[in-house]
Amino acid sequence: ETIETEKFRPQFHFTPEANWMNDPNGMVYYEGEYHLFYQHNPDSAVWGPMHWGHAVSNDLLHWEHLPIALCPDSLGYIFSGSAVIDWENTTGFGSKDNPAMVAIYTYHNIDGERAGKNNYQYQALAYSLDKGRTWKKYKNNPVLPNPGIRDFRDPKVIWHEESKQWVMILAAGDIAKIYSSKDLKTWSFESDFGMGIGAHGGVWECPDLFPLQVEGANDIKWVMLMSINPGGPNGGSATQYFIGEFDGKTFVPEKNESDWLDYGKDNYAGVTWSDVPKEDGRRLFIGWMSNWIYAQTVPTEKWRSAMTLPREIKLIKDKNQYQLTTFPIKEFEESKILKMQINKMLFSGMSDINNIDLDLGSCELNFVFKPQKGSLNGHTTAFGLLLKNDADEEFKIGYNMLSKQVFIDRTKINTQFTDSNYLSEDVAPYTIGDEIKMKIIIDASSVEVFVDEGKLAMTNVLFPDSSFNKLSLFSSLGSVELESATFFNVE
Ligand code: FRU
Repeated sequence: ETIETEKFRPQFHFTPEANWMNDPNGMVYYEGEYHLFYQHNPDSAVWGPMHWGHAVSNDLLHWEHLPIALCPDSLGYIFSGSAVIDWENTTGFGSKDNPAMVAIYTYHNIDGERAGKNNYQYQALAYSLDKGRTWKKYKNNPVLPNPGIRDFRDPKVIWHEESKQWVMILAAGDIAKIYSSKDLKTWSFESDFGMGIGAHGGVWECPDLFPLQVEGANDIKWVMLMSINPGGPNGGSATQYFIGEFDGKTFVPEKNESDWLDYGKDNYAGVTWSDVPKEDGRRLFIGWMSNWIYAQTVPTEKWRSAMTLPREIKLIKDKNQYQLTTFPIKEFEESKILKMQINKMLFSGMSDINNIDLDLGSCELNFVFKPQKGSLNGHTTAFGLLLKNDADEEFKIGYNMLSKQVFIDRTKINTQFTDSNYLSEDVAPYTIGDEIKMKIIIDASSVEVFVDEGKLAMTNVLFPDSSFNKLSLFSSLGSVELESATFFNVE
């Protein structure tokens, strides 16, 4: 199939069949299917009148494209939002036997925006009674009018079990607003969150709010995800998060600073699946693998942008601090084929790994590195891996012992795309113990780096002229022990 071999087209990440995609929307699980809707312009490979594109999957990895779910109408473009299953038929749209799948989304009224008004974003409902295949918009839309705030969007709705009602969190300028409802149709304001709390380098977008049990303990904390654009740690778009308490009305964070869900430049607007069965119990996440700083000019033609791999979010307590980890879902293991393994190898300077029978354009590379402290050669400063291709482009991923940072350097992948924001070395603060584990997943035009089982994640797009075909390890000054490495192809 020609689509599979298009330049830069990922093999195992979700992409739209054609044209523009941004945020994942309305992710909900129902009757054996994971639904993924997404911001979509079906008429062009750049942003424009927004629709909800649609796909379904049984395993979150192999997706079936379905017809567009929601199209713009006289109220506006269909912006980001969420979806829930109305099990108790609180809306009356369905029945308890055939509960409605309800989408809660923002209308963006382009005429209102062009006329310089500030009330052109408001929240609305649509529902489906046939597993998301066909949709009806609610006749009394909007359900939450605009109170006079320019940026007022991206409702995420959850069922709050304790207070037996729906809760909506949405982005309003650079804070969040929380509302509650018995029937999804009438909403009461509960609280504001975010004044003087978290990062404010840009507008807040695409929130999420969910409870999560602490790994290895019984306590449950509430997690708020909040994308921000610009103002990310490496520039442009990124997703921050807060951990705290939520009583159905007010969110109270543990601390005033937020943390970053991903330090790379290309994981934005991600939220989690609704209605994942209790027996499964996972908190499943997907993000848009791009950055508004260059999203519309990346060098693909027929389609633009991909989603991250679906990831499981966990909550851990490390050195007395709550922290999220993100890691590829376990289903991904099924797609991997072990190709090569290395045990115990000391390296310094530049050390080539020869005879690799591996497609470096579609692979997972795992490393456990142990930098040698105080060895005869002196201390290690930076180490990691270097990938090269026939166009002499170079791609580096590693750890710097002096700056205590993980880095991804794509400055020398520079023949196909030369945007200065793309030609960057992106870094993430990280303190290592005796060793560092790196999982590196490459799929045509993206890399996802997971450090120490997901305590740190970095996601970046890359546009190499041709696939990488050389792999070396490097260490400046001192030597590093490669404890082990496993290389997989991904199908
Ligand atoms: C985030 C975002 C949302 C908005 C959508 C429009 O990337 O700006 O806030 O709903 O994209 O496409």
